Amino acid sequence: MSLIRSYAVWNNKGGVGKSTISFHLAARLAETRPNVNVLVIDACPQANASMLLLGGGTTGEANVLSLCTQASPRTIVGYLSQVIAAGAGAALPDPMSFVTQVAQHNAKLTDNLFLLCGDGNMEPMAPAISGAAAAPALTPQSQPWRWIHLILRGLIDNISQNIPTRDWLVILDTNPSFSIYTELAISAADRLIVPVNADDSSRVATNAMFILLHGQTPPHPVYGSWTFATRAQTHNIGVPQIHVVVGNRLTQYEGAATAFSALSDATADTLFAAYQSHPQYFTPRPATSATVTDFRDNYSVPLRDFNTAGVVAAHLGQRLSQMGGGYYQVHGQQVQINSARVTECINALNALLAMVD
Ligand SMILES: Nc1ncnc2c1ncn2[C@@H]1O[C@H](COP(=O)(O)OP(=O)(O)OP(=O)(O)O)[C@@H](O)[C@H]1O
Ligand SMILES: [Mg+2]
Repeated sequence: MSLIRSYAVWNNKGGVGKSTISFHLAARLAETRPNVNVLVIDACPQANASMLLLGGGTTGEANVLSLCTQASPRTIVGYLSQVIAAGAGAALPDPMSFVTQVAQHNAKLTDNLFLLCGDGNMEPMAPAISGAAAAPALTPQSQPWRWIHLILRGLIDNISQNIPTRDWLVILDTNPSFSIYTELAISAADRLIVPVNADDSSRVATNAMFILLHGQTPPHPVYGSWTFATRAQTHNIGVPQIHVVVGNRLTQYEGAATAFSALSDATADTLFAAYQSHPQYFTPRPATSATVTDFRDNYSVPLRDFNTAGVVAAHLGQRLSQMGGGYYQVHGQQVQINSARVTECINALNALLAMVD
């Protein structure tokens, strides 16, 4: 079977909802597309998306810990350790000995959902990964930087080509720092889903995102050649295009009843300016976006009502469609969920889902 597409949920700003969106998107994709396998690769050492998928709350945390503490961890760290230790060109290990079928730990999610679990040991391991990427090329053919950066891409290809059940969709959750493991995740993605908040720092982060992916013009005389952007170009590694920008937690600033758009004016202007000068940074649409309004319509999705219902569902590792109205126990407190809010939340998520092809 084959890979349909790989998406990284990324913004180099922290706390914008990457892991929450990764969880809901993956759970709903798996639910609504039973003929597809969905793989989440958790490339963030905080492993938040893994915790949500594996049951949420303390259950999810305990499940993640049990995978991380195995002698050969059934996690991204286990996989990277084995592949890097074996060296470039060695046969790859069976990917499914590192991937977990989510339903084995969390019966609330469907059996076509898989996880390469996040692992806090990725943090102490990061210098070893960077060291392997920076190793001198001992033969003209060897390209350590390229080999290391394509490790997760290789895992995705291996799984999607060799597991004969269904086609695969891949969601990569990322860390906000542009560390080596974030570079690996970005290098494995065909497309980017970029969550933003409606504040000013989201506009600043948006500018930083283009510099990280494509470099600064003109490049800095010293650091310019060290950047991921320059090295990716040198090593012929494609950089993913922005597919959709998700305005998350909008009601935090505007109030539930206020008219709103997915992007603040400042963020929309910044993105539209980048689109006008470099349309190739974005996935193509049938028609060019001539105005910032067209651009917002074509490239942004609001998750306005992704509030209490979405947060409680994630905390319980539960699909939104399984949430009825009523009271739920979260951190020892009773939280009331209104079923109309759940429906709004599902509708908001469906708009994002419709863009994932
Ligand atoms: N739409 C939303 N409405 C309300 N709360 C939200 C929403 N999205 C995320 N949150 C909350 O905001 C916090 C940060 O979300 P999340 O962990 O998904 O962000 P992140 O971008 O993955 O963070 P990090 O950069 O640390 O990885 C969490 O407590 C989450 O429950
Ligand atoms: Mg996160």
